[in-house]
Amino acid sequence: MQTKKLKIGIVGGTGYTGVELLRLLAIHPNAELFAITSRGEAGQPVADMFPSLRSYVDLPFVDPAEADLSACDVVFFATPNGIAMQQARELLAKGVRVIDLAADFRIKDVSVWEKWYGMAHACPELIADAVYGLPELNREKIRHARLLANPGCYPTAVQLGFMPLLKAGVVDQLSLIADAKSGASGAGRKAEVHTLFAEAGDNFKAYGVGGHRHLPEISQGLSQMAGQLAGLTFVPHLMPLIRGIHATLYAKLTKPCDLQQLFEQTYADERFVDVLPRGSHPETRSVRASNQCRIAVHQPQGGDTVVVLSVIDNLVKGAAGQAVQNMNIMFDLPENAGLEVVPLLP
Ligand SMILES: NC(=O)c1ccc[n+]([C@@H]2O[C@H](COP(=O)([O-])OP(=O)(O)OC[C@H]3O[C@@H](n4cnc5c(N)ncnc54)[C@H](OP(=O)(O)O)[C@@H]3O)[C@@H](O)[C@H]2O)c1
Repeated sequence: MQTKKLKIGIVGGTGYTGVELLRLLAIHPNAELFAITSRGEAGQPVADMFPSLRSYVDLPFVDPAEADLSACDVVFFATPNGIAMQQARELLAKGVRVIDLAADFRIKDVSVWEKWYGMAHACPELIADAVYGLPELNREKIRHARLLANPGCYPTAVQLGFMPLLKAGVVDQLSLIADAKSGASGAGRKAEVHTLFAEAGDNFKAYGVGGHRHLPEISQGLSQMAGQLAGLTFVPHLMPLIRGIHATLYAKLTKPCDLQQLFEQTYADERFVDVLPRGSHPETRSVRASNQCRIAVHQPQGGDTVVVLSVIDNLVKGAAGQAVQNMNIMFDLPENAGLEVVPLLP
Protein backbone atom coordinates (compact mmCIF):
# COMPACT_ATOMS: atom_id res chain seq x y z
CA MET A 1 0.00 0.00 0.00
CA GLN A 2 1.30 3.41 -1.03
CA THR A 3 1.70 5.98 1.77
CA LYS A 4 3.25 8.88 -0.14
CA LYS A 5 0.72 11.08 -1.97
CA LEU A 6 0.74 10.86 -5.74
CA LYS A 7 1.76 14.05 -7.52
CA ILE A 8 -0.96 14.83 -10.02
CA GLY A 9 -0.84 16.84 -13.24
CA ILE A 10 -3.98 17.82 -15.13
CA VAL A 11 -3.67 19.11 -18.67
CA GLY A 12 -6.89 20.92 -19.51
CA GLY A 13 -8.00 22.11 -16.07
CA THR A 14 -10.54 24.64 -17.36
CA GLY A 15 -12.85 22.15 -19.09
CA TYR A 16 -15.76 20.18 -17.68
CA THR A 17 -13.88 16.93 -17.16
CA GLY A 18 -10.90 18.91 -15.85
CA VAL A 19 -12.91 20.65 -13.15
CA GLU A 20 -14.52 17.31 -12.30
CA LEU A 21 -11.06 15.77 -11.82
CA LEU A 22 -10.24 18.70 -9.54
CA ARG A 23 -13.42 18.19 -7.51
CA LEU A 24 -12.58 14.52 -6.92
CA LEU A 25 -8.80 14.77 -6.53
CA ALA A 26 -8.84 17.80 -4.21
CA ILE A 27 -10.12 15.56 -1.42
CA HIS A 28 -8.60 12.26 -2.55
CA PRO A 29 -6.62 10.88 0.41
CA ASN A 30 -3.68 9.74 -1.75
CA ALA A 31 -3.43 12.63 -4.21
CA GLU A 32 -1.62 15.95 -4.25
CA LEU A 33 -2.54 18.36 -7.03
CA PHE A 34 0.72 19.61 -8.50
CA ALA A 35 0.17 21.19 -11.92
CA ILE A 36 -3.11 22.26 -13.53
CA THR A 37 -2.83 23.69 -17.01
CA SER A 38 -4.64 26.24 -19.10
CA ARG A 39 -3.35 28.09 -22.11
CA GLY A 40 -5.72 31.03 -21.76
CA GLU A 41 -5.96 31.31 -17.95
CA ALA A 42 -2.30 30.78 -16.97
CA GLY A 43 -1.50 32.68 -13.77
CA GLN A 44 -5.10 32.89 -12.62
CA PRO A 45 -5.94 31.07 -9.36
CA VAL A 46 -8.01 27.97 -10.17
CA ALA A 47 -10.55 28.91 -7.49
CA ASP A 48 -11.12 32.33 -9.12
CA MET A 49 -12.45 30.54 -12.18
CA PHE A 50 -14.23 27.80 -10.21
CA PRO A 51 -15.49 29.26 -6.88
CA SER A 52 -16.73 25.77 -5.95
CA LEU A 53 -13.05 24.89 -5.40
CA ARG A 54 -12.26 27.75 -2.98
CA SER A 55 -10.42 26.36 0.08
CA TYR A 56 -9.90 23.05 -1.73
CA VAL A 57 -7.51 24.07 -4.54
CA ASP A 58 -5.05 26.92 -3.99
CA LEU A 59 -2.92 26.56 -7.13
CA PRO A 60 -2.92 28.86 -10.16
CA PHE A 61 -3.31 27.52 -13.69
CA VAL A 62 -0.01 27.15 -15.51
CA ASP A 63 0.62 27.19 -19.23
CA PRO A 64 1.01 23.61 -20.50
CA ALA A 65 4.36 24.55 -22.09
CA GLU A 66 5.70 25.62 -18.68
CA ALA A 67 4.11 22.99 -16.45
CA ASP A 68 6.60 20.61 -14.84
CA LEU A 69 4.63 17.53 -15.85
CA SER A 70 7.64 15.25 -15.75
CA ALA A 71 7.78 15.74 -11.96
CA CYS A 72 4.34 14.13 -11.63
CA ASP A 73 3.55 10.51 -10.86
CA VAL A 74 0.54 10.64 -13.15
CA VAL A 75 -0.76 13.14 -15.69
CA PHE A 76 -4.40 13.28 -16.74
CA PHE A 77 -5.16 14.71 -20.17
CA ALA A 78 -8.64 16.28 -20.03
CA THR A 79 -8.07 17.75 -23.46
CA PRO A 80 -9.55 17.45 -26.96
CA ASN A 81 -8.60 14.47 -29.11
CA GLY A 82 -5.09 14.62 -30.52
CA ILE A 83 -3.34 16.38 -27.59
CA ALA A 84 -2.25 13.52 -25.30
CA MET A 85 -0.64 11.65 -28.18
CA GLN A 86 1.75 14.58 -28.72
CA GLN A 87 3.17 14.36 -25.19
CA ALA A 88 2.67 10.76 -24.10
CA ARG A 89 5.95 9.39 -25.47
CA GLU A 90 8.08 11.93 -23.59
CA LEU A 91 6.18 11.58 -20.31
CA LEU A 92 6.24 7.79 -20.40
CA ALA A 93 9.99 7.85 -21.09
CA LYS A 94 10.39 9.85 -17.87
CA GLY A 95 8.42 7.28 -15.89
CA VAL A 96 5.23 9.35 -15.64
CA ARG A 97 2.00 7.41 -16.05
CA VAL A 98 -0.54 8.90 -18.41
CA ILE A 99 -4.34 8.76 -18.29
CA ASP A 100 -6.01 10.16 -21.39
CA LEU A 101 -9.68 11.12 -21.08
CA ALA A 102 -9.80 11.72 -24.83
CA ALA A 103 -9.83 9.05 -27.51
CA ASP A 104 -6.18 9.01 -28.66
CA PHE A 105 -5.42 5.52 -27.37
CA ARG A 106 -8.84 3.87 -27.21
CA ILE A 107 -8.93 2.16 -30.60
CA LYS A 108 -6.43 -0.58 -31.32
CA ASP A 109 -6.58 -0.38 -35.12
CA VAL A 110 -4.78 2.85 -35.96
CA SER A 111 -6.30 3.08 -39.45
CA VAL A 112 -9.79 2.92 -37.92
CA TRP A 113 -8.80 5.64 -35.43
CA GLU A 114 -7.35 7.87 -38.14
CA LYS A 115 -10.47 7.47 -40.27
CA TRP A 116 -12.90 8.41 -37.47
CA TYR A 117 -10.77 11.13 -35.90
CA GLY A 118 -9.54 12.68 -39.15
CA MET A 119 -5.85 13.03 -38.23
CA ALA A 120 -2.63 11.06 -38.39
CA HIS A 121 -1.72 9.36 -35.11
CA ALA A 122 1.39 10.89 -33.54
CA CYS A 123 2.62 7.74 -31.76
CA PRO A 124 1.03 4.61 -33.20
CA GLU A 125 3.74 2.47 -31.58
CA LEU A 126 2.22 3.18 -28.14
CA ILE A 127 -1.30 2.01 -28.99
CA ALA A 128 -0.66 -1.70 -28.46
CA ASP A 129 0.52 -1.14 -24.89
CA ALA A 130 -2.23 1.32 -23.98
CA VAL A 131 -4.88 -0.27 -21.75
CA TYR A 132 -8.57 0.47 -22.27
CA GLY A 133 -9.73 1.58 -18.84
CA LEU A 134 -13.07 -0.09 -18.28
CA PRO A 135 -12.29 -1.66 -14.88
CA GLU A 136 -15.20 -4.10 -14.97
CA LEU A 137 -13.74 -5.56 -18.18
CA ASN A 138 -9.98 -5.02 -17.96
CA ARG A 139 -9.07 -4.67 -14.28
CA GLU A 140 -6.00 -6.93 -14.34
CA LYS A 141 -4.46 -5.17 -17.34
CA ILE A 142 -5.19 -1.77 -15.78
CA ARG A 143 -3.07 -2.69 -12.75
CA HIS A 144 0.04 -2.74 -14.96
CA ALA A 145 -0.90 0.10 -17.31
CA ARG A 146 1.52 2.95 -17.90
CA LEU A 147 -0.69 4.49 -20.57
CA LEU A 148 -4.41 4.35 -19.86
CA ALA A 149 -7.12 5.08 -22.41
CA ASN A 150 -10.11 6.20 -20.38
CA PRO A 151 -13.37 5.16 -22.08
CA GLY A 152 -15.82 7.59 -23.60
CA CYS A 153 -19.07 8.43 -21.83
CA TYR A 154 -21.54 6.69 -24.16
CA PRO A 155 -19.16 3.71 -24.48
CA THR A 156 -19.13 3.27 -20.69
CA ALA A 157 -22.92 3.21 -20.32
CA VAL A 158 -23.43 1.00 -23.37
CA GLN A 159 -20.67 -1.52 -22.70
CA LEU A 160 -21.57 -2.03 -19.04
CA GLY A 161 -25.18 -2.63 -20.09
CA PHE A 162 -24.37 -5.24 -22.74
CA MET A 163 -21.44 -6.94 -20.98
CA PRO A 164 -23.32 -9.61 -18.97
CA LEU A 165 -25.30 -10.68 -22.05
CA LEU A 166 -22.29 -10.90 -24.35
CA LYS A 167 -19.99 -12.65 -21.91
CA ALA A 168 -22.67 -15.25 -21.25
CA GLY A 169 -23.35 -15.64 -25.00
CA VAL A 170 -27.13 -15.48 -24.59
CA VAL A 171 -27.96 -12.86 -27.25
CA ASP A 172 -27.41 -12.39 -30.99
CA GLN A 173 -24.25 -10.30 -30.91
CA LEU A 174 -24.76 -9.13 -34.50
CA SER A 175 -28.00 -7.21 -33.98
CA LEU A 176 -27.40 -5.06 -30.89
CA ILE A 177 -29.09 -1.67 -30.63
CA ALA A 178 -28.08 1.21 -28.35
CA ASP A 179 -30.43 4.17 -28.10
CA ALA A 180 -28.51 6.61 -25.90
CA LYS A 181 -29.16 10.11 -24.58
CA SER A 182 -26.69 12.58 -23.11
CA GLY A 183 -26.86 15.89 -21.28
CA ALA A 184 -25.18 18.96 -22.78
CA SER A 185 -21.98 18.81 -20.66
CA GLY A 186 -21.02 15.81 -22.79
CA ALA A 187 -19.96 18.28 -25.47
CA GLY A 188 -17.53 20.09 -23.15
CA ARG A 189 -17.29 23.70 -22.03
CA LYS A 190 -16.16 25.30 -25.26
CA ALA A 191 -18.70 27.66 -26.84
CA GLU A 192 -20.77 25.99 -29.56
CA VAL A 193 -24.15 27.00 -30.95
CA HIS A 194 -25.87 23.63 -30.45
CA THR A 195 -25.26 23.71 -26.68
CA LEU A 196 -26.50 27.28 -26.14
CA PHE A 197 -29.35 27.39 -23.61
CA ALA A 198 -31.83 28.56 -26.24
CA GLU A 199 -30.83 25.73 -28.59
CA ALA A 200 -30.47 22.76 -26.23
CA GLY A 201 -33.02 23.74 -23.56
CA ASP A 202 -36.62 22.58 -24.02
CA ASN A 203 -35.56 20.48 -27.02
CA PHE A 204 -34.70 16.87 -27.81
CA LYS A 205 -33.03 15.42 -30.88
CA ALA A 206 -30.92 12.60 -32.26
CA TYR A 207 -27.59 13.26 -33.96
CA GLY A 208 -24.83 11.26 -35.63
CA VAL A 209 -27.19 8.48 -36.74
CA GLY A 210 -25.03 7.78 -39.79
CA GLY A 211 -21.94 7.32 -37.66
CA HIS A 212 -20.68 8.69 -34.33
CA ARG A 213 -17.03 8.48 -33.22
CA HIS A 214 -18.00 6.34 -30.27
CA LEU A 215 -19.31 3.59 -32.57
CA PRO A 216 -15.93 1.95 -33.36
CA GLU A 217 -14.90 2.19 -29.70
CA ILE A 218 -18.08 0.52 -28.47
CA SER A 219 -17.97 -2.12 -31.23
CA GLN A 220 -14.38 -2.98 -30.32
CA GLY A 221 -15.34 -3.51 -26.67
CA LEU A 222 -18.51 -5.48 -27.44
CA SER A 223 -16.54 -7.76 -29.81
CA GLN A 224 -13.97 -8.38 -27.06
CA MET A 225 -16.77 -9.35 -24.66
CA ALA A 226 -18.49 -11.61 -27.21
CA GLY A 227 -15.23 -13.19 -28.39
CA GLN A 228 -16.38 -12.56 -31.96
CA LEU A 229 -17.39 -9.64 -34.15
CA ALA A 230 -20.35 -7.72 -32.67
CA GLY A 231 -22.76 -5.65 -34.76
CA LEU A 232 -24.21 -2.49 -33.25
CA THR A 233 -26.65 0.22 -34.28
CA PHE A 234 -25.88 3.25 -32.10
CA VAL A 235 -28.09 6.33 -32.02
CA PRO A 236 -27.06 9.18 -29.69
CA HIS A 237 -29.42 11.97 -28.61
CA LEU A 238 -28.96 15.35 -26.94
CA MET A 239 -31.15 15.83 -23.86
CA PRO A 240 -31.90 19.18 -22.21
CA LEU A 241 -29.94 18.19 -19.07
CA ILE A 242 -26.57 19.36 -17.78
CA ARG A 243 -25.30 15.93 -16.66
CA GLY A 244 -26.33 12.37 -17.31
CA ILE A 245 -26.47 9.58 -19.87
CA HIS A 246 -29.40 7.21 -20.24
CA ALA A 247 -28.79 4.27 -22.56
CA THR A 248 -31.65 2.02 -23.61
CA LEU A 249 -30.18 -1.16 -25.08
CA TYR A 250 -31.89 -3.89 -27.09
CA ALA A 251 -30.73 -7.43 -27.90
CA LYS A 252 -32.34 -10.64 -29.19
CA LEU A 253 -32.19 -13.56 -26.75
CA THR A 254 -30.87 -16.74 -28.30
CA LYS A 255 -30.99 -18.95 -25.18
CA PRO A 256 -33.27 -19.07 -22.16
CA CYS A 257 -31.67 -17.24 -19.26
CA ASP A 258 -32.51 -15.79 -15.85
CA LEU A 259 -31.46 -12.28 -16.83
CA GLN A 260 -31.83 -10.73 -13.40
CA GLN A 261 -29.60 -13.39 -11.86
CA LEU A 262 -27.07 -13.05 -14.70
CA PHE A 263 -26.73 -9.29 -14.17
CA GLU A 264 -26.60 -9.56 -10.38
CA GLN A 265 -23.91 -12.24 -10.53
CA THR A 266 -21.81 -10.41 -13.13
CA TYR A 267 -21.67 -7.25 -11.05
CA ALA A 268 -21.86 -8.76 -7.55
CA ASP A 269 -18.35 -7.55 -6.64
CA GLU A 270 -18.39 -4.28 -8.54
CA ARG A 271 -18.56 -1.24 -6.27
CA PHE A 272 -19.58 1.09 -9.07
CA VAL A 273 -22.17 -0.95 -10.93
CA ASP A 274 -25.52 -1.28 -9.21
CA VAL A 275 -28.02 -3.79 -10.62
CA LEU A 276 -31.46 -2.61 -9.60
CA PRO A 277 -34.28 -4.95 -8.53
CA ARG A 278 -36.44 -6.61 -11.19
CA GLY A 279 -38.82 -4.17 -12.88
CA SER A 280 -36.82 -1.01 -12.05
CA HIS A 281 -36.33 2.08 -14.19
CA PRO A 282 -33.08 3.89 -13.29
CA GLU A 283 -33.00 7.69 -13.46
CA THR A 284 -30.06 9.90 -14.40
CA ARG A 285 -30.52 11.90 -11.20
CA SER A 286 -29.90 8.75 -9.13
CA VAL A 287 -26.22 8.86 -10.21
CA ARG A 288 -25.61 12.60 -10.53
CA ALA A 289 -22.09 13.62 -9.38
CA SER A 290 -21.26 10.00 -8.46
CA ASN A 291 -19.20 7.24 -10.05
CA GLN A 292 -22.14 4.83 -10.10
CA CYS A 293 -23.63 3.09 -13.10
CA ARG A 294 -27.15 1.88 -12.31
CA ILE A 295 -28.61 -0.84 -14.51
CA ALA A 296 -31.96 -2.56 -14.87
CA VAL A 297 -32.69 -5.51 -17.15
CA HIS A 298 -36.13 -6.26 -18.61
CA GLN A 299 -37.70 -8.91 -20.83
CA PRO A 300 -40.94 -7.20 -21.90
CA GLN A 301 -43.94 -9.56 -22.04
CA GLY A 302 -41.57 -12.54 -21.64
CA GLY A 303 -40.60 -12.18 -25.33
CA ASP A 304 -37.19 -12.70 -26.91
CA THR A 305 -36.08 -9.05 -26.72
CA VAL A 306 -33.90 -8.04 -23.79
CA VAL A 307 -34.06 -4.36 -22.80
CA VAL A 308 -31.29 -2.99 -20.60
CA LEU A 309 -31.48 0.48 -19.03
CA SER A 310 -28.11 1.92 -18.02
CA VAL A 311 -27.49 5.35 -16.47
CA ILE A 312 -24.28 7.16 -15.56
CA ASP A 313 -23.10 10.70 -14.92
CA ASN A 314 -21.15 11.40 -18.12
CA LEU A 315 -18.61 13.53 -16.25
CA VAL A 316 -17.98 10.99 -13.48
CA LYS A 317 -18.31 7.27 -14.40
CA GLY A 318 -18.27 8.53 -18.01
CA ALA A 319 -15.01 10.50 -17.57
CA ALA A 320 -13.26 11.90 -14.46
CA GLY A 321 -14.55 9.42 -11.87
CA GLN A 322 -13.62 6.44 -13.99
CA ALA A 323 -10.20 8.05 -14.61
CA VAL A 324 -9.67 8.30 -10.83
CA GLN A 325 -10.91 4.71 -10.43
CA ASN A 326 -8.29 3.69 -12.99
CA MET A 327 -5.58 5.70 -11.21
CA ASN A 328 -6.47 3.91 -7.98
CA ILE A 329 -6.11 0.52 -9.66
CA MET A 330 -2.85 1.50 -11.41
CA PHE A 331 -1.27 2.63 -8.12
CA ASP A 332 -2.61 -0.22 -6.00
CA LEU A 333 -4.85 2.05 -3.95
CA PRO A 334 -8.33 1.08 -2.73
CA GLU A 335 -10.41 1.24 -5.90
CA ASN A 336 -13.02 3.48 -4.29
CA ALA A 337 -10.52 5.97 -2.77
CA GLY A 338 -11.86 9.47 -3.27
CA LEU A 339 -14.94 8.17 -5.05
CA GLU A 340 -17.43 7.57 -2.27
CA VAL A 341 -19.70 10.44 -3.22
CA VAL A 342 -23.43 10.14 -2.53
CA PRO A 343 -25.32 11.17 -5.70
CA LEU A 344 -26.89 14.62 -5.60
CA LEU A 345 -30.67 14.58 -5.52
CA PRO A 346 -32.93 16.43 -6.27
N1 LIG B 1 -17.60 16.05 -21.37
C1 LIG B 1 -17.78 14.74 -21.20
O1 LIG B 1 -18.83 14.29 -20.72
C2 LIG B 1 -16.69 13.77 -21.59
C3 LIG B 1 -16.85 12.44 -21.23
C4 LIG B 1 -15.85 11.51 -21.58
C5 LIG B 1 -14.73 11.95 -22.27
N2 LIG B 1 -14.62 13.26 -22.62
C6 LIG B 1 -13.41 13.67 -23.34
O2 LIG B 1 -12.56 14.33 -22.43
C7 LIG B 1 -11.83 15.36 -23.10
C8 LIG B 1 -12.10 16.69 -22.39
O3 LIG B 1 -13.50 16.95 -22.49
P1 LIG B 1 -14.18 18.22 -21.82
O4 LIG B 1 -15.63 18.01 -21.96
O5 LIG B 1 -13.59 18.47 -20.49
O6 LIG B 1 -13.67 19.36 -22.84
P2 LIG B 1 -13.67 20.95 -22.64
O7 LIG B 1 -14.65 21.32 -21.58
O8 LIG B 1 -13.82 21.53 -23.99
O9 LIG B 1 -12.19 21.25 -22.09
C9 LIG B 1 -11.06 21.05 -22.88
C10 LIG B 1 -9.82 21.43 -22.07
O10 LIG B 1 -8.67 21.19 -22.87
C11 LIG B 1 -7.81 22.32 -22.85
N3 LIG B 1 -7.17 22.38 -24.15
C12 LIG B 1 -7.76 22.57 -25.36
N4 LIG B 1 -6.84 22.53 -26.35
C13 LIG B 1 -5.65 22.31 -25.75
C14 LIG B 1 -4.32 22.17 -26.23
N5 LIG B 1 -4.06 22.25 -27.55
N6 LIG B 1 -3.33 21.95 -25.35
C15 LIG B 1 -3.58 21.86 -24.02
N7 LIG B 1 -4.83 22.00 -23.49
C16 LIG B 1 -5.84 22.22 -24.36
C17 LIG B 1 -8.70 23.49 -22.53
O11 LIG B 1 -7.97 24.38 -21.74
P3 LIG B 1 -7.41 25.80 -22.19
O12 LIG B 1 -8.14 26.19 -23.46
O13 LIG B 1 -7.73 26.68 -21.01
O14 LIG B 1 -5.96 25.55 -22.39
C18 LIG B 1 -9.78 22.88 -21.65
O15 LIG B 1 -9.40 22.93 -20.29
C19 LIG B 1 -12.31 15.35 -24.55
O16 LIG B 1 -11.42 14.63 -25.33
C20 LIG B 1 -13.66 14.65 -24.49
O17 LIG B 1 -14.00 13.97 -25.67
C21 LIG B 1 -15.56 14.18 -22.28
